[in-house]
Amino acid sequence: MKYFYTLALCLLISIQVTAQNQDGFYATMSLHHAKALAKDVPNEIEILSTFRNEAAVWMTQTGSHKLHDRILTHGPGYIYRNSQEEAVTAIQNPQNRLADNTRAALDFSITEDATVIPTLDLIQTQNIEDHILELENYGTRYHNRASATQAAVDLKTKWEEMAASYGRTDVSVRLFNHSNTQMPSVILTIAGAEIPDEYVIVGGHLDSTSNQGNDNAPGADDDASGIATITEATRALFEVGFVPKRTIEVMAYAAEEIGLVGSNEIASQYAANNVNVVAVSQFDMTLFNGSSNDVSFISDFTSGELTSYMMSLLDHYNASGEHQVTYSTSVCNYGCSDHASWTGQGYMAAFPFEANFGQHNGNIHSTGDMFSLTNTASHATKFAKLCAEFLIEVAKNNEVLAVNDVLASSIYVTIQDGILSYDFTASQKEVTSIQLYSIKGQEVYTTTTVSERDQVTLPTLSTGVHIATFNTENNTTPIVKKLIVN
Ligand code: BES
Ligand code: ZN
Repeated sequence: MKYFYTLALCLLISIQVTAQNQDGFYATMSLHHAKALAKDVPNEIEILSTFRNEAAVWMTQTGSHKLHDRILTHGPGYIYRNSQEEAVTAIQNPQNRLADNTRAALDFSITEDATVIPTLDLIQTQNIEDHILELENYGTRYHNRASATQAAVDLKTKWEEMAASYGRTDVSVRLFNHSNTQMPSVILTIAGAEIPDEYVIVGGHLDSTSNQGNDNAPGADDDASGIATITEATRALFEVGFVPKRTIEVMAYAAEEIGLVGSNEIASQYAANNVNVVAVSQFDMTLFNGSSNDVSFISDFTSGELTSYMMSLLDHYNASGEHQVTYSTSVCNYGCSDHASWTGQGYMAAFPFEANFGQHNGNIHSTGDMFSLTNTASHATKFAKLCAEFLIEVAKNNEVLAVNDVLASSIYVTIQDGILSYDFTASQKEVTSIQLYSIKGQEVYTTTTVSERDQVTLPTLSTGVHIATFNTENNTTPIVKKLIVN
């Protein structure tokens, strides 16, 4: 018995020595593919553990190339894992780990017509086209190239400027640095006004790849289109003045093409910190219109419930007319994009895709994945609409802020450097009192001695959105104005 343990220990050490020598890594993949590869090239892969149809493996770079060449029609066919432990736990089917939490939080209702309908008119195909070309112009966004990191840094700036141009002090943008790639991911956060600890996430991947050499990888469809789609949906939300109850995060993942590396690190961190992510939608490839239906919902490695909710959104908002979007379902056969990182951690994720699998853009992962192939982003626009609907309906509009500004343009109100300035001279209304509320509904300032025009020094306020109400002489509906305190 003792001899057996010594032998086992030696074996273990020798495996680890080989692992280091041969430049291998841990991954998870379908058991079927793992077994086929082990039969083919027994020295390049080791099956460490299995659970149902999944295998946790250690494999060499040579093994991963063989897998790509011999077994799959697309992609590497595995998901990269940081350690043996991570690989082994990942296959233990944690699909329902957070399901109870999530189910309580998400009621799948569709109630926000008043916000969604005007938003659909604001989505501009031109903005999506411009953004795709901007990303294509990096030449390559392959994760280990300097231009990929530059693309992330520039996207952070672009998103910051976009939020600032709409006066959004409730928005922040950060880089998420990774252990397994030098390229950072980019995350834009719109702070939830009422339930900030519940998250709604949309994402796409910023990196690109080309099997003709990664120095020329325009990645227009895969996946500049997804990044441009979620960016335009977010811009439209800002333009309509949407303030979510739940926190929204818009993510541009790094290093998806080498095995979901960026999203996997993010989703693992969120799960480790018990972040309550209510729903996730992936946007990877929205440019190429290859099937008779517009959107193909990928039905494997996704949540069936969330997918059918997104279908209901299309039934409700896009059944006919100028915003019409049709849909069907398709399968990828394995975790083919970043949604799989989230479902792998037990979160609900959906993946609306450009076409039925097999009818999608055949130029991806090549130098030919260029915008000029379609020369229009009209297909992507449909996904941007779905993205905006998803964000508004899942994050829901904040009740307090749902009141429209019923302020005539003749009335001037601002808060700057702690001073509330107003001027009602042009409005011919007599204001009798002013109240100022924080985003949480707390009254932070009130006054009843009001002149037509004044500048009032306010107490120290928290930054972000505030609501000012101006009550007029004959007790008609107060004039309401959203104001941002910087
Ligand atoms: N955009 C693709 C995913 C994709 C390609 C979905 C074709 C449907 C049809 C993504 O960037 C990708 O290339 N994924 C890899 C797998 C991933 C684990 C690296 C793939 O499917 O080839
Ligand atoms: Zn790809």
